[in-house]
Amino acid sequence: MSSKTKEEFYSVVKDITNNKEFNKLNKELHHGITRYDHSLRVARWTYQFCELFNIKSINNTTRAALLHDFYIDNELLGENKFEKLSDHPNLALENSLKYYKLDNVQQDIIKSHMFPCNLNVPKYKESWIVSTIDKVVGTYEMLRFKTSLYIGIYCLFLFEIIRLPR
Ligand SMILES: [Fe+2]
Ligand SMILES: [Fe+2]
Repeated sequence: MSSKTKEEFYSVVKDITNNKEFNKLNKELHHGITRYDHSLRVARWTYQFCELFNIKSINNTTRAALLHDFYIDNELLGENKFEKLSDHPNLALENSLKYYKLDNVQQDIIKSHMFPCNLNVPKYKESWIVSTIDKVVGTYEMLRFKTSLYIGIYCLFLFEIIRLPR
């Protein structure tokens, strides 16, 4: 991201990244990083994609992308993994609406981003964009996390072999 694009991007999302409640995502683990960093990456990639393909609703789409996982794990206590996967979009929408006025497209982006893990089929092209980018970002983050985890385990293993008394 060029520094000009970065500046434009942050001017679109500044009020969200400054929100005290949203900053709680900094303490939530998500794909081996924080949920804050994951959300920011999804929003950044969305912004760049919309810019590249001249999507008119770039600002609204980017803001909804940033809000798509606005929840903390404690709010889903007692739910199993599958229930969490399918239920958190509604919770993220509920939390977002407490602080921001969202139009129908933005609400749909958040609600449907986990399709096909639930039956909320994306209704707008913007929803398909964010849902797809979220999956690509999630896969990238998981692979990166797992790769560094395996390298770490391998190094420990190697270190133990080297240290073994002969
Ligand atoms: Fe999500
Ligand atoms: Fe996500």
